[in-house]
Amino acid sequence: MATLALSDTPAETLATDAVVVGLHKGPDGPVLAPGAEGVDAALGGRLAATLALLGAEGGVAEVTKLATLGATTAPVVVGVGLGSADDLTAETLRRAAGAAVRALAGTGRVALALPADDGDQLRGVAEGALLGAYDFTAYKSSPNGRRAPVRAVTVVVPAATDKAAKAEAKRATTVAGAVHRSRDWINTPPNDLRPPAFADAAAAAAEKAGLDVEVLDERALKRGGYGGILAVGMGSEAPPRLVRISWNPRGAKTHVALVGKGITFDTGGISIKPGSGMHEMKSDMSGAAAVISAMLAIAALKPKVRVTAYVPMAENMPSGSAYRPGDVVTMYGGKRVEVLNTDAEGRMVLGDALARAVEDEPDYIIETSTLTGGQVVALGSRVSGVMGTPEVTARVKAAGERTGEQMWPMPLPEEVRQGMDSPIADLSQINASGDRAAHMLQGGTFLSEFVGDVPWAHIDIAGPSYNGGQPWGHVSKGGTGVPVRTLLALVEDFAAEG
Ligand code: BES
Ligand code: MN
Ligand code: ZN
Repeated sequence: MATLALSDTPAETLATDAVVVGLHKGPDGPVLAPGAEGVDAALGGRLAATLALLGAEGGVAEVTKLATLGATTAPVVVGVGLGSADDLTAETLRRAAGAAVRALAGTGRVALALPADDGDQLRGVAEGALLGAYDFTAYKSSPNGRRAPVRAVTVVVPAATDKAAKAEAKRATTVAGAVHRSRDWINTPPNDLRPPAFADAAAAAAEKAGLDVEVLDERALKRGGYGGILAVGMGSEAPPRLVRISWNPRGAKTHVALVGKGITFDTGGISIKPGSGMHEMKSDMSGAAAVISAMLAIAALKPKVRVTAYVPMAENMPSGSAYRPGDVVTMYGGKRVEVLNTDAEGRMVLGDALARAVEDEPDYIIETSTLTGGQVVALGSRVSGVMGTPEVTARVKAAGERTGEQMWPMPLPEEVRQGMDSPIADLSQINASGDRAAHMLQGGTFLSEFVGDVPWAHIDIAGPSYNGGQPWGHVSKGGTGVPVRTLLALVEDFAAEG
């Protein structure tokens, strides 16, 4: 990952390869944002007018490059759009910084002279810049003309040496590191990240971070009665796992459980998916990647709250040993579930993991998963669906507003639950008549049967976890790292309870 430094050296004299300044959209063209004054003076006060000549308008994340021909130490100035000056948010800065740094791939060092007066703005700029400096090249034999991500980011702020600013920079490095880690895991091809390998990687990283780790292998899962995880895992030659990671600081009052879906590849199983786009189902472990990466960041941020992660991992494959529609599976804790579609595998592994989490008596459970295509239909690729206890759901939404990871509450209506009564078992895995109406809510409703009385929220990230399209803002192609930053914001929120 790129390094991050703060500097109070004027941007126009800073030893760097490019300087990024902000442009607001004004009624008569782009207007320089605070932070750009020195660079503008070095260019004879003509920066905004020149960028306008080059086509700049100031729309959010629009990038315009200008050669400075010796007027500033850096050979290039980049104007990045910040939209209207009246509603500048941290998320706008995050997206703009990310877009500018992405556009500067191939440049070694980049300085950002953007508005960063308060902690929120600084957080947006720093996180956005680091997130924009991501690329996944592990499987490229040679760079082949591909421009390397920016190596060193400097944020220019007058308060560079203040304790609070330094703490923000340190936090941004930790948080962006966690997002990068989660993107790396999601982008890793599924032949190299089957459950045993994923569990080993998670355990190694967590142990290195000083966290306590427990991994249940297939024998331990059998002994423990984890019927849901075993049912999904038994179609694959690579056996399932349940990883438990704990952060247990002295004096913590509140205990939060984080649960993440870790299907390392989802073929649909016997209820097999269509072939087109199936490769993207390597991202069906995005919830797991987010939860594990968040735990690694928690070990560095050291919030005064107990956090335990429960991560079920399985590969959903069709084979002679696969589970089948019609099976009745006894879940961890004893509930019997009638399987109707082996492609609804996420809720099977999560039911077990949630029931296990409840045993440790957490005050809150936050679960996240690429659970349903219904989430994508309802909310698209940037807004996650949140279901659960209203109070916790509202806190998830509010945390998303702080991080820029959009979250929208969804209901768990009684009639959806009624539709999941099974004629022969305790519960049907999906609507008993196969009705796909509200199937995002069916997923949430199923999970709600496994959380007992614990206040909880389920975050369906099927769309937002993976960017199958072009990069935008601070979001690269492939794994996005959603909702790592919101999980961290929530943990900090719970820590503040005492
Ligand atoms: N992993 C998928 C959901 C998914 C879809 C994630 C698109 C990302 C993008 C999940 O396991 C699944 O297959 N869900 C089914 C459930 C159905 C069988 C009730 C779905 O959404 O169609
Ligand atoms: Mn599936
Ligand atoms: Zn799935």
